[in-house]
Amino acid sequence: MNLTNTYPSLQGRVVFITGGGSGIGAGLVEAFGDQGARVAFVDILEAESQALMRELNERWGEPRAHFYSCNLIDIERLQAIMAQVQQELGSISVLVNNAAQDTRHDFRDVTPEYWNERININLRPQFFAAQAVYEQMKAQGGGSIINFGSMSWHECQGNMTGYTTSKAAVLGLTRGLARDMGPDGIRVNTLTPGWVMTERQLNNWVNDDTRKVIDQSQCLAGDLMPEHICAMALFLASDDSRMCTAQDFIVDAGWI
Ligand SMILES: NC(=O)c1ccc[n+]([C@@H]2O[C@H](COP(=O)([O-])OP(=O)(O)OC[C@H]3O[C@@H](n4cnc5c(N)ncnc54)[C@H](O)[C@@H]3O)[C@@H](O)[C@H]2O)c1
Repeated sequence: MNLTNTYPSLQGRVVFITGGGSGIGAGLVEAFGDQGARVAFVDILEAESQALMRELNERWGEPRAHFYSCNLIDIERLQAIMAQVQQELGSISVLVNNAAQDTRHDFRDVTPEYWNERININLRPQFFAAQAVYEQMKAQGGGSIINFGSMSWHECQGNMTGYTTSKAAVLGLTRGLARDMGPDGIRVNTLTPGWVMTERQLNNWVNDDTRKVIDQSQCLAGDLMPEHICAMALFLASDDSRMCTAQDFIVDAGWI
């Protein structure tokens, strides 16, 4: 990963990342570990997450990345893991709510069960993870919570209402919690990526036609990559952003 900045305040910090097994999340695990942070991450992808953990720890020469298997639909398991991380690694001072599923769906076919599942993956864990870190962060005099949003709903993207609804709600979640937790020094921000060229996006959605849309829509030429999102996450997690809260930080190469 081609990131040049070093944030001394992240050295030794305990960072908790959801969906760290692949995509942008895997980049986040690497980026925070490169800063000398202790990184706990959860995912449903067992093999990929184990492989990522092994590869990175080998490169670092010490176990900075720690994988915990968890389906975020199971809030009790998520809460238990966050308590376990505190016991094993120390109190969490950075929470990155990154996991999501942008599965496409025709609104005509959506059942109440499917709708609930979209919300229970894309929105509900962000709230309960924030609730679970609150006491840990408060006891340390503060912390940083980064909730992942999406540009999709800004541009009226269809075929994924359960996802776009959740991602729009993330902004309200951020601003409400920023008010509630601000007095304890806990900062809460949204990080909104544009169209990031993860392996999954490249395999499923990026083709000659969508390439043209990207070229026309971005003010800046070139691919938006996980490292560009990670750069903003590091800043928002670090003490250098100590007076930033309740905001939406958009990294989309100027998508118009
Ligand atoms: N890639 C993009 O273009 C893009 C654009 C806008 C917003 N985002 C946002 O950025 C974040 C990361 O996106 P990405 O493209 O890397 O996504 P991705 O789908 O490639 O990766 C998401 C990760 O979360 C994990 N995950 C999914 N459901 C889970 C569950 N129930 N329990 C535990 N883990 C689960 C997946 O296994 C995967 O490792 C998401 O919040 C997404 O909405 C991405």
